[in-house]
Amino acid sequence: MFGDCTTILEMAAIEVRELCRTYQVFRKREGVWASVRGLFHREYDVVSAVRNVSFTIDEGEMVAFLGPNGAGKTTTLKLLSGLVVPTSGTAHVLGHVPWKREDAYRRRFSLVTGQKEQLWWDLPAQESFRLHKEIYRIPADDYRRRLDELTDLLEVGRLMSQPVRELSLGERMRMELIAALLHRPDVLFLDEPTIGLDVVSQRRVQEFLRHYQREQRITVILTSHYMKDVEALCDRAIVINKGIVIHDGPLAAIIDRFSRHKIIELQFSDNVVPQGLERFGRILESRPPKVKIQVEKQRVSESLSSILSQHSIDDISVSERPLEEVIAELFSSDDAARAEK
Ligand SMILES: Nc1ncnc2c1ncn2[C@@H]1O[C@H](COP(=O)(O)OP(=O)(O)OP(=O)(O)O)[C@@H](O)[C@H]1O
Ligand SMILES: [Mg+2]
Repeated sequence: MFGDCTTILEMAAIEVRELCRTYQVFRKREGVWASVRGLFHREYDVVSAVRNVSFTIDEGEMVAFLGPNGAGKTTTLKLLSGLVVPTSGTAHVLGHVPWKREDAYRRRFSLVTGQKEQLWWDLPAQESFRLHKEIYRIPADDYRRRLDELTDLLEVGRLMSQPVRELSLGERMRMELIAALLHRPDVLFLDEPTIGLDVVSQRRVQEFLRHYQREQRITVILTSHYMKDVEALCDRAIVINKGIVIHDGPLAAIIDRFSRHKIIELQFSDNVVPQGLERFGRILESRPPKVKIQVEKQRVSESLSSILSQHSIDDISVSERPLEEVIAELFSSDDAARAEK
């Protein structure tokens, strides 16, 4: 009789509740005497790197974690990797509390950062991979199969015996990904995996990640300042600013929610662009007979009817601004502070 009312509870892969992390930073004073005094009376500021962050990520999701410099992205990923202990709050990844640093958890996730390498600089990548095999006790057959598959996908076979320091940044990042995936983690934290890469290498890493994630259905959190990465890989984004989550939902909804403008494109019938269009908004491009104007959202229909009543138009279109611009605007101004409220 219990069978009828049994519900299967699907566990989230990542569950974060009101996570906080503060850092004490030494307050430096200007001037020699103040510095000397500072040696005896140290004063500290408290920086809230992560403030009451909560989110849930299901198994197999690939979520973007976006925010300006210093927003708290890396700190959150360090918390979830158990490298940093929180000041307060809770987190569970695959049922583990990361900062307990259980061996069982270590085998189930990987953290890849674009800024810090885990490979041995002077050794060929294959030596580091062998070390991983021992650390994670990967059976020899699995190791060979996975290594072949990953080197194939990332096209780095010919570079395996070259010292890592001789590899290009893009090649090194691909080796880092192999090192991170050899033990088949279920959760992957990617902290700016394409930072500093040229467009071709960036796209190669993107394509690999998309393919790998779809095949293996692993759960991924990706931070990146390149919106091209994010648009290629994630449907959902969590946006954080000054340690606070300001958006969690579909990536496309960011444009809807935070963009204050739309783009109107017009093609005039007579071969000129009329004067005075600045009164509707910022002229982004003017190539007679075409013009592109950035207009405040709430003034779009009013502007259109005014232009149409005065001019003869061949073609007209209204579009959203690119995600890249909306994000840049959101992070660069007081908008982010306003969005927090
Ligand atoms: N070990 C530390 N000691 C003191 N302050 C720190 C430490 N680590 C991070 N912070 C501070 O916490 C805040 C968040 O830093 P974090 O590295 O998480 O930002 P981020 O979102 O990853 O930024 P970026 O896009 O530049 O990588 C910043 O103000 C940073 O200076
Ligand atoms: Mg960071």
